[in-house]
Amino acid sequence: MKKVDVVLGLQWGDEGKGKVVDVLTPNYKVIARFQGGPNAGHSLHFNGKSFVLHTVPSGIFRDGSVNIIGNGVVIDPVILADEIAQIEATGQQVTDKLFISKKAHLILPTHRILDAASEASKGKGKIGSTLKGIGPTYMDKTGRNGLRVGDILSPEFMERYNRLKEKHEHMLKQYDYAYDITEYEQEWFAGIDKLRRFPFIESEQVVNDYINNDTAILAEGAQGSMLDIDFGTYPFVTSSNTLCAGVCTGLGVAPSRIGDVYGIFKAYCTRVGSGPFPTELFDATGDKLREIGKEFGATTGRPRRCGWLDLVALKYSVMMNGVNALIMMKADVLNDFDTIKVAVAYKLGEKETAQFPYEINDGVEPVYKEFKGWKCDINAIRKYEDFPAEFKQYVEFIEQECGVPVKIISVGPDREETIVR
Ligand code: GDP
Ligand code: IMO
Ligand code: MG
Repeated sequence: MKKVDVVLGLQWGDEGKGKVVDVLTPNYKVIARFQGGPNAGHSLHFNGKSFVLHTVPSGIFRDGSVNIIGNGVVIDPVILADEIAQIEATGQQVTDKLFISKKAHLILPTHRILDAASEASKGKGKIGSTLKGIGPTYMDKTGRNGLRVGDILSPEFMERYNRLKEKHEHMLKQYDYAYDITEYEQEWFAGIDKLRRFPFIESEQVVNDYINNDTAILAEGAQGSMLDIDFGTYPFVTSSNTLCAGVCTGLGVAPSRIGDVYGIFKAYCTRVGSGPFPTELFDATGDKLREIGKEFGATTGRPRRCGWLDLVALKYSVMMNGVNALIMMKADVLNDFDTIKVAVAYKLGEKETAQFPYEINDGVEPVYKEFKGWKCDINAIRKYEDFPAEFKQYVEFIEQECGVPVKIISVGPDREETIVR
């Protein structure tokens, strides 16, 4: 019996999950998303072309792959239909490769408005949401009001849609927020119609049949562990379980059937939106990371906040996910730094701690360890032995601290710019 392997982000998202899934896909028949929705933006680069995926699993560009959008995902039909059209415009066939869970919840146009109205009302305390309607949709899911993909096939679909929309309109009255969904609603129903050509499946059955038939499955995480609804920097998080546990609830996979857990991290750190970020740099070094790393959101275009690697947060994520292989991304971005810093502990008032604290929102001061930069171009390196000594020191320190080997190193956005140890 094959187990389900997992790729997930260990930081605040945008670690490079799309690239890694695309690189690993030749080893897997099935690629499945288990949580999140179009708040995700996963970039792929191959054969001189670039692509950003939001809802579709990053296995879609590989021949013969089966791509499943699991029950834990929330879907905006406008964004998904548009994404599919863009993939097909590249000449890539999507029919027969994409399957959608009947139990995945639908993001209604009014969910998006509620997201925007709620954020606008929060003023300085805003989350910095991608405004895709993620929070309100998961609220309706747990509140037992949501509409699911399988409901599209019901003769009562319109009635249920209208009932939920009315509830939202009622809620919106408490906000002083002007909106007009006429146009988006038309696109929404057109999107629903476009999705009908894809099989709506009971993905938990399908996934377990694949497991029992010894088929290799890769679960693709969205966002990152520090944005997890339970263990992230609450309330500055997303509304789903981004951790490995989310694979179980978001695909219907038993915990005993989870295999390798690949934890992805950038060689430094970024975050978009509000919330604590202990190693954030507000100086020229931060600007340099943003510029060289092209750190601008793949979904919203917002500049990402940048800073040094945070081992306190990383070790917390490794623990929570049971990571057994680390993947280090964007090491090439650090090529030109004389000194590279890594946070190994936090100062919390008078106390020093190496454990990720509940009080993270009160502000902590990072305690750094410094490394000498390698000061050379590593983009063309394809064998671990060929890396400069300073680089290996950096990698080996992270391995030692986390107690997990770094199995893959990425030195550029392209599929080819990858070293597997
Ligand atoms: P995801 O959301 O985790 O899939 O990550 P994003 O796609 O949002 O952001 C990662 C960005 O880094 C994308 O623009 C990638 O093309 C790029 N990228 C991925 N790996 C590397 C790398 O090793 N080096 C560099 N320079 N860029 C990379
Ligand atoms: P990928 O999959 C980075 C952040 C938002 C905001 C918070 C809540 O590309 O790594 P939401 O729209 O979920 O209500 O936003 O979470 N966020 C992400 N940051 N990468 C993502 O996805 C993100 N998805 C959400 O910026 O701070
Ligand atoms: Mg992203």
